[in-house]
Amino acid sequence: MRIDTITAFPKMFASPLGESMLKKAQERNVVEIVVHDLRTCAHDKHKTVDDSPYGGGAGMVLKPEPVFECVEKLLAERTYDDVILLTADGETFNQVMANELSLKQNLIFICGHYKGVDERIRERLVTKEISIGDYVLTGGEIAALATIDAIIRLLPGALGDSESALNDSFQTGLLDSPQYTRPAEFRGMNVPEVLLGGDHEEVRKWREEMSLVRTTKRRPDLLEKYFSEPKAHKP
Ligand code: ADE
Repeated sequence: MRIDTITAFPKMFASPLGESMLKKAQERNVVEIVVHDLRTCAHDKHKTVDDSPYGGGAGMVLKPEPVFECVEKLLAERTYDDVILLTADGETFNQVMANELSLKQNLIFICGHYKGVDERIRERLVTKEISIGDYVLTGGEIAALATIDAIIRLLPGALGDSESALNDSFQTGLLDSPQYTRPAEFRGMNVPEVLLGGDHEEVRKWREEMSLVRTTKRRPDLLEKYFSEPKAHKP
């Protein structure tokens, strides 16, 4: 997979993409991530990429010319499956969308400002609009990173343990069961006996039950969906 990200703040990407699993996935050639500085496509003296909104109001809006230039350069080089705009009024991102996007070959992410982007960018260039939740961030950068992270960890070879992504919370449609590691006793708190015994079938049953209990308590909405659309989550 190749991901091209267009942003006025490219430095925001360096650390998250240069650590941990996202770093390893790039080193293993599971994914190529190219971050483009939008300012390189602005040609006035001040490299202006935003301007105040027509009609007045607070905040700045991303100008169309630099974004069009940057996206069109990329589109001339290869075919992209989607041109994604990160914006608070987009479709709310979830695990199903992460799964779908993880099957694509080439993606462009455009990071908008909190106030937005010139509407003509959406009309002409963007094929998908994504929000990471019902709150407003300063811009699309952190949203793009969250989305990219969720997609990359699903790619074959990105995780050390290829099974673990399949058993995640949300992937099954339910929240994950509690997890423990050594020591078996810590400050008087004990790891459940069943996990220490080595009976895989008993462990599986316990996890399934805990998963249901946790989902019932914390996310009854997910539980309802799980039982009304069981096929959506079961291979
Ligand atoms: N830009 C500002 N807020 C956002 C959000 N919640 N999701 C995606 N992009 C955004």
